[in-house]
Parts: sequence; structure tokens; C-alpha cells
Amino acid sequence: MQLSSEQQSMLEGELGGAARQSMEILCALGRIYGARNMVPITSAQVAGVSYKTIGDAGLEYLQDIASAGARVRVPTFLNPAGMDREQWQALKVPPAFAKKQLEILAAFAKMGISSTCTCTPYLVGIRPKLGEHIAWSESSAISFANSVLGARTNREGGPSALAAAICGCTPNYGLHLDENRVANLRVLVDVELKGMSDYGAMGAYAGEAAKGKTPAFIGVKGATEDRLKSLGASMAAWGSTALYFMKGITPEWNVAQGAEEITFGAQELRAMREKMGGDGKPDIIAIGCPHASLSEIEEVAEKVQGKKLATKLWVCTARKTKEAADKAGFTRTIEQAGGNVVADTCMVVCPLEEMGITHAACNSGKAAKYLTNMFKRKVVYGDVEDIVCK
Ligand code: F3S
Repeated sequence: MQLSSEQQSMLEGELGGAARQSMEILCALGRIYGARNMVPITSAQVAGVSYKTIGDAGLEYLQDIASAGARVRVPTFLNPAGMDREQWQALKVPPAFAKKQLEILAAFAKMGISSTCTCTPYLVGIRPKLGEHIAWSESSAISFANSVLGARTNREGGPSALAAAICGCTPNYGLHLDENRVANLRVLVDVELKGMSDYGAMGAYAGEAAKGKTPAFIGVKGATEDRLKSLGASMAAWGSTALYFMKGITPEWNVAQGAEEITFGAQELRAMREKMGGDGKPDIIAIGCPHASLSEIEEVAEKVQGKKLATKLWVCTARKTKEAADKAGFTRTIEQAGGNVVADTCMVVCPLEEMGITHAACNSGKAAKYLTNMFKRKVVYGDVEDIVCK
């Protein structure tokens, strides 16, 4: 691989052991995937933050690399952690878990990483532009950045995104290259998508059908940014889709000649919703996967205003979005109804099982997949008005 003189210095250890180790990771990846060089990145987003996900081995790795002098060179955000840093006691997160989680966050902070823990960095400060190279590792954020913003990132793992953040570059292969940003599956959408949960269901269907292909949607009307974020998250969870196009909506539209074609109509929507959703009384209604935007929080606040909820309600979001919701009075409205606006974490990476929760309702295709796996029971699936106001 061709390296710049600075990248070569990193590899030879002239900029410290942590930079050398990180550059070795990037070079190894580059060799595996046939990259010819590194491409500079403007930001990184690192997954593997919750103690529930990475455990003691992950914590030790982070502490070691932080002590070895690792420092990031580009703005870097974290994926959701295992708890809300300010409300964990009130939300009944076990203290032993919280202690470990705080140690993980301290190790990241030592490396110069922002304390923002979110899967929606593009809503709270890092919003890459068309053609910008980045190294992100949360699958829903990868999908949004590639598809809705037209930025370029591969599906990084936590360690490779961290290595890229430390070196300020990533191997130039995969979705960084024009030739790989081509759709090879046309999805003809022949049904009206009524709400967020329909977008999640279509994402689940397309994710499963794509089997590694890149979908291009034709015929979607009324796709807001919030709906696209839900669609991409679901596609990434039910398949492994990191890039999609939507005719007239996404900044890129590049479809291969002779691409396979499938239809997503009323029948497919119904079947997918049946597959995703179960019944029964949930212990928690979980909104905000990916992390809720301010307008999604506003929608929940409007729906619960003046009510007393019989079921625990969490609206998960980024800290900065929560601060905006606090200012707008949405948090207070939700709290008065008995719910919580929860920052820094989400329903999947916090220790819900340890908190005695075994059944959930949600409006997200991605959360439906993960919570069903977690609880071994299908979630109650629907839009906010169906699951919150039931
Ligand atoms: Fe984000 Fe957690 Fe969903 S990381 S995409 S809210 S599973």
C-alpha cells in the first residue's frame, strides 16, 4: 500500500505505540480488501461503547490503548453507552454496571473523544457532506451517512473506526470508491407507507431480500429524514445494507443495467409486519431507534400530553437533542405522563434484562429485530400513536 510520509512514520512507531498499532490495523484491513492507499477522513464514530456489549475485555483494551498515548486526530463521537450518564440512578441501572460504564467513557475521553454517545451524530454536530470520507461504525449511522448524505464510509467495526480516528485516515476500498456505489437491486414500492413503522417494515423486507446487494427504491412518497433514518437502520439490521438510493430523494442515484427487480406492495408490507410484531402487554415502550430527533420527541409529547401512562415509556435520544427537548418543554410533558427522555444510551445497549424488563413495544424495525432476539419474544410493533396511546 502507498502511504504518505506521515502514515509511514506512524507505521514505524515514530508517533508512538498507539499510532503504530492503529496503523497496523488499518494496513492489515487495506491488504485484505485490496486498498492501494489510505484516504483522509473528516470524522469517526466508534461503536462498542456499552459495557453490556464489550465487557471487561473491551474495557481493558480501551484502557491499555488510552494509557499507551492514543489520541484521536479527527472529531470522533461514540455510539450509545449502556446508560444515561445523568439519570442512571433514577432509571435504576445497577451500580456495578454503571461503575464499569463510567470507566469505559473515561478511557475514551482520555483519547480526546467527545463524550457525545449517539447513533445519530448527523443530528447533533457531525454531518458530513456529499463525497466526504469518514469512518463510522454504527450500522444505522453508516446507512444514513452513505445514503441520505452521500458521504462515504465502509461498515467499520469499533476497533477499526477507533484506529481510523487515531490515524486520521482509513483504507481506500469498498464504499469509498465510485465503482462500488452502484445499486444492483431495484425495489418498486407499490404501497402507501403510512408511518415510521411502515418504513421499518420496508427496511426489514429490503434488508432480507438484498442479501448483500445495494437497493434502489422507486416510488416512495413522503419520505422525511426521520423516516429514512428508520428505513436505513432496519435494512442494516435485517440485512447488512450500508448504502441505498431512493429516486428523487437521495443525492446519488446510480443503478446497474440489468439490476434485479422486486416489488414491495401491500401484501409484502402486511406479511412483514406480521413477522415483526407480536402481542401482549409490554414492560416498556421504547421510542428512538435510531436516536429520536427533536420532532420525533415533539410527536411523543403531543400524544401523551395530559395522559397518565400505564407502561414505562423511554424516548432515547442524543444528549444535545434532549437538551433541546428540555428547553422546548417536551421532556417535561413526557415526564408528567410518566415517561422518560433518556440520553446517551438506548433500549438495546442498556441492561434492560437486569432491570427486570422482558417484553417491549417499539416503532423501529431495527429495535424490533434486536429486542425480539434479546427477550426471545416478538415485540409489539406499531407507530407512536398505536403503541403509546393504546
Ligand atoms: Fe441506535 Fe441503539 Fe437503535 S444504537 S440504531 S438506538 S439499537
